[in-house]
Amino acid sequence: MTFPATGPLSAVEPGTLKLIDVRPYGEGDPVTVLIKDGVIVDLNASADADADRTIDGRGNVLLPGLVDMHVHLREPGREDTETIVTGSQAAAQGGFTAVFSMANTMPVMDQPVLAESVWFKGQHAGICDVHPVGSITKGLEGKEITEFGMMATSQAKVRMFSDDGKCVDDPLIMRRALEYAKGQDVLLAQHAEDSRLTGGAVAHEGETAARLGLRGWPRVAEESIVVRDALLARDYGNRVHICHASTTGTVELVAWAKSQGIELSAEVTPHHLLLTDEKLTTYDGNYRVNPPLREEHDTVALRQALLDGVIDCVATDHAPHGSEEKCCEFEHARPGMLGLETSLAVIAEIFVHSGLADWRWVAKVMSERPAEIVRLPGQGRPIAVGEPANLTIVDPGASWTARGAEMASKSENTPYEGMEFGAKVTTTVLRGRLTCVDGVAAEPREMA
Ligand code: DOR
Ligand code: ZN
Repeated sequence: MTFPATGPLSAVEPGTLKLIDVRPYGEGDPVTVLIKDGVIVDLNASADADADRTIDGRGNVLLPGLVDMHVHLREPGREDTETIVTGSQAAAQGGFTAVFSMANTMPVMDQPVLAESVWFKGQHAGICDVHPVGSITKGLEGKEITEFGMMATSQAKVRMFSDDGKCVDDPLIMRRALEYAKGQDVLLAQHAEDSRLTGGAVAHEGETAARLGLRGWPRVAEESIVVRDALLARDYGNRVHICHASTTGTVELVAWAKSQGIELSAEVTPHHLLLTDEKLTTYDGNYRVNPPLREEHDTVALRQALLDGVIDCVATDHAPHGSEEKCCEFEHARPGMLGLETSLAVIAEIFVHSGLADWRWVAKVMSERPAEIVRLPGQGRPIAVGEPANLTIVDPGASWTARGAEMASKSENTPYEGMEFGAKVTTTVLRGRLTCVDGVAAEPREMA
């Protein structure tokens, strides 16, 4: 593959695309949206307007393209489980136009050249913007901070750093990282887990784990890091983002930090909103994840926090694993679940179909807020004339069954196998390019 010498590609699709019979944010009468050279040029076009391609939205909901701050695409190193191309296809089928791919690849994403290779591979494929996340410490070893500046100014323009999969345990390293990040204006995302409290743990520490004979991961392991990092952010003045918040206590601590004016943001995964550790009674390795599935009251607190804005956004933590890593004894199963292709359906099920929230709110927590937190231009924008055409069409009344084997992801480890859902992404548009049509992702544009 050849990379262009300068500048990110961020290609726009030349020509015109027309989306007829769509309802922006699920509100009002259906309209026809006209897109020219990757930009929305008319929100009230005639259905007969000339266009190179036309998509019939069939009265479905039009949302801004979704943005996922937290995925694992496994390239480089574990291309047998996911690649930038298959991960982009899973993203497009899930309605995403931008994802942030975590740094726990092999080798670890701790140098500009690695980050640039991920960014350009994503751009060459042209199915989803894949933004590499740099690691906070070299080799994820927690000892030496990486060159944030060089990665931020590389062609990949790395804007988020995280050791996700592992916590930055050492408070002094975290302090120095925050001070450095402040100078570079980049975001640090913390996988909050005090590893001294979770040694050998495979499940939430509670009644279910005790009954099943599984080693427990207590809430305090997460919460103690959340409060520590909030205080470090307060005193050393940089933003901290909390990955995959999973407990009632974390919700309370994030609310407290925000009430103090501390620049803390937090995400929650669809699986921590929907599933509990009751699932573990099957001993199915597909339910193993870090942090672990918690209890009912945690899901209730997390849902309310997302509605209230205490938790800012949804992120999938899409974590593909091979079947040999999942179809084994529970304690040997690798932690992680697929998420890209089911997230919108899960969020619609919990919040929209129940009447707790509307599609405009979904646009906020799955597109606008994440783009804002990462300060990503061109994504999470309003559906308006002059804006980049990053869009997704959702059929709110679909009826479909999740099947790992049918997903675009190279892996099959969905925790929703056989579950029925009622909302489905039909179409995704990335800067005017159709990246998903009729629920099927596009092929890569060019892999020279
Ligand atoms: O369940 C998880 N899987 N949690 C993480 O933090 C890392 C991820 C992975 O890389 O598989
Ligand atoms: Zn993760």
